[in-house]
Amino acid sequence: MQTDFLVIGSGIAGLTYALKTAKQFPDKKITVITKTQADETNTKYAQGGIAGVWDEAKDSYDKHIEDTLIAGDGLCNEHIVEIVVKEGPERIKEIIAYGAEFDKDDKGAYSLGKEGGHSENRILHHKDVTGKEMERALLNELKNIKNIELLNHCFVVDIITQHHLGFLVTKSTLDITCYGVYVLNLHTNHIEKILAKIILLATGGCGQAYRTTTNPRIATGDGIAMVYRAKGKIENMEFIQFHPTALYEPGISPSFLITEAVRGDGGILRNKNNEAFMERYDARKDLAPRDIVARAIDNEMKRTGTEHVYLDCRHMDKEKFIHHFPNIYEKCLSIGIDVMQQMIPVAPAAHYSCGGIKTDEWGRTSIKNLYACGECASTGLHGANRLASNSLLEAMVFGHRCYLDSSEQINTLSFENRIPDWNVTGTSEPREMILITQSQKELQQIMSDYVGIVRTDVRLERAMKRLDLLFSETEALYRSTKVSPQLCELRNLITVGYLIVKGAEFRKESRGLHYNTDHLQKSEILQNIIL
Ligand code: FAD
Ligand code: SIN
Repeated sequence: MQTDFLVIGSGIAGLTYALKTAKQFPDKKITVITKTQADETNTKYAQGGIAGVWDEAKDSYDKHIEDTLIAGDGLCNEHIVEIVVKEGPERIKEIIAYGAEFDKDDKGAYSLGKEGGHSENRILHHKDVTGKEMERALLNELKNIKNIELLNHCFVVDIITQHHLGFLVTKSTLDITCYGVYVLNLHTNHIEKILAKIILLATGGCGQAYRTTTNPRIATGDGIAMVYRAKGKIENMEFIQFHPTALYEPGISPSFLITEAVRGDGGILRNKNNEAFMERYDARKDLAPRDIVARAIDNEMKRTGTEHVYLDCRHMDKEKFIHHFPNIYEKCLSIGIDVMQQMIPVAPAAHYSCGGIKTDEWGRTSIKNLYACGECASTGLHGANRLASNSLLEAMVFGHRCYLDSSEQINTLSFENRIPDWNVTGTSEPREMILITQSQKELQQIMSDYVGIVRTDVRLERAMKRLDLLFSETEALYRSTKVSPQLCELRNLITVGYLIVKGAEFRKESRGLHYNTDHLQKSEILQNIIL
């Protein structure tokens, strides 16, 4: 199969790009691939909302820029922060034009929420299901566009480069070029090749590397692992963001999120002794940036010997709570918690990957014709810690920028027709799928136990040794058995785990989300760790 533009991922990043490109080039073919259903994305689960300077009487670009830089703890690329903050509101207007609805107050003005690290109210939201509404609007817009083909249940296994033509490709090869992808078509169970002139990775995050995560099953870091295997550049993987308040529900995965907007509206964190402990950790109390709140909770849990703390909403106005957070109210009720009477048990959960595929200001990766945007990319916006609700914004801004840049390239490119078919010789049906499931559980255990919120050198060393073993076992399985999504995801998660540990080992300091008790000081040299 051949397509002009190949988009891998149907979340906010991929769809923003696909819609714009298809409208600009009605005579060209745009193919969007997704590994399950089109709307099963991290995007769909976004709750709190999308940050943007909206109320210019109170807010300003400068304030949003400053808040982002403070959260990022010295590692944000200031130029990129300025781009995202200043271009963001235009992109929000576009999704409103597609039909996305954000809540308004009695006077018809957008009701702006607040979350940790924001100095002003600037979060547009749709109740507590903002992502679902945005995904709905994007997919609805897609229905009207004739030149976009949407392929569900197609699992991209690897990107194709000159390595597949038999050339030696190493980290120092200067002109690594992407020609398309190998895809496991889950309808036929065959691996097909799709050749494309431009390829966009919008494959989302990697929360599934951890035992407790807010991310759905699809978030296995596939794009990041594929680019690493293809010898492209990956950076800042040590900065995994743990959301402070996931609902504590043992045995349930993924964890249900209790949006930070609940704290923005007055929710208070308490420990098992009923103490509002955040005031002991930071002057901004419950609305300090996420890294600080998650670490404080982790410390309180260890100190008091509990597996969770509580979010107290009992003092909040019931009607307002139900109006803003209907989904959370219902979810809690469904497990016997009336949030007006009882406190909500919460604990931190892996939530967001601040690092990823290194891109420039146009979303270009280190591999030619390959772009990346959304959570799988590392644009420089988040630095060492992402400011709440900046992710949906970044995905739209960079979806747009990738579209602008690739539009200029497309007419100079042609297909590479010499790519061989996928080779299945020497592989057989897997005898025990359970081996894959068990290895994935082991990986999640290793990452949660040794590479979580608080790290030490010994823990990182242990993690690496254990990952090495999992890696060699899984590679042997990969070489000898027929490829399945489960096996590919395991392989990708092990690669992502390796990249997180490697980045953490290189970073001999504590900064933002990376906190190592053997290196508590911040280094004076600011650097991104590129792998
Ligand atoms: P996704 O939306 O995750 O889409 C990934 C796509 O890639 C999917 O279509 C998937 O099928 C496809 N894909 C992946 N691998 C493959 C493969 N191998 N082959 C084929 N297809 C593949 N951010 C905010 O700014 N505000 C919020 O309020 C907010 N709340 C959040 C709440 C939760 C519970 C979670 C989990 C995240 C939240 N975030 C929030 C973060 C934000 O939702 C994500 O960062 C963002 O939606 C990522 O969008 P994306 O387009 O990059 O990827
Ligand atoms: C939340 O609603 O708390 C999540 C917001 C985010 O991840 O940006």
